[in-house]
Amino acid sequence: MRLVKWAHDLAESMLADSLPRRWAHSKRVHSQALALAPTLGRDAELLAAAAIVHDIGYARDAVDTGQHMIDGARYLRDVVVADPRLCSVVAFHTSSSWEASQLGLDDALAEFGPAEPELVDAITYCDLTSTPTGDLVDPAERLSEVLERYGPEHVVFRAVSEARPELMARVARVRRRAEAMETKLN
Ligand SMILES: [Fe+2]
Repeated sequence: MRLVKWAHDLAESMLADSLPRRWAHSKRVHSQALALAPTLGRDAELLAAAAIVHDIGYARDAVDTGQHMIDGARYLRDVVVADPRLCSVVAFHTSSSWEASQLGLDDALAEFGPAEPELVDAITYCDLTSTPTGDLVDPAERLSEVLERYGPEHVVFRAVSEARPELMARVARVRRRAEAMETKLN
């Protein structure tokens, strides 16, 4: 769990004081990742670490392109020299690919490829079940809230509208894996 503690301390130092809502959200995403641990086997620790740092791209020290998934992944890779798989999960989380396309940043995102589908499904599920203030939420509701918050002119609105079916498919796959694991354990 050394990786998780390291990631927690890093995210706390970058978000807790300056972006307390992001920090509260990140802590819920992290606890959702811990709940998925039995379905991820050896990658449970990697997911837990990625969950707590997934939004550090919003922190002032990390902002560069303005696409927070890429900025967070670059910060992890270039400044704190994190495990490339951890950088990749952060880079591809939730609607990243769609946002990168909208912004002409496909090549920047590709620096972190290939994405690992099972981990990207899992981090997306964790992200979409946490509100911006860290409460639990239904993913469909969360996506509606994002669309409402940004409005039709914003790149996030366009990306999330396009991504929505695949994001919901990711959530469904994670739930199926969790149910299958529960059946196996009982
Ligand atoms: Fe998030």
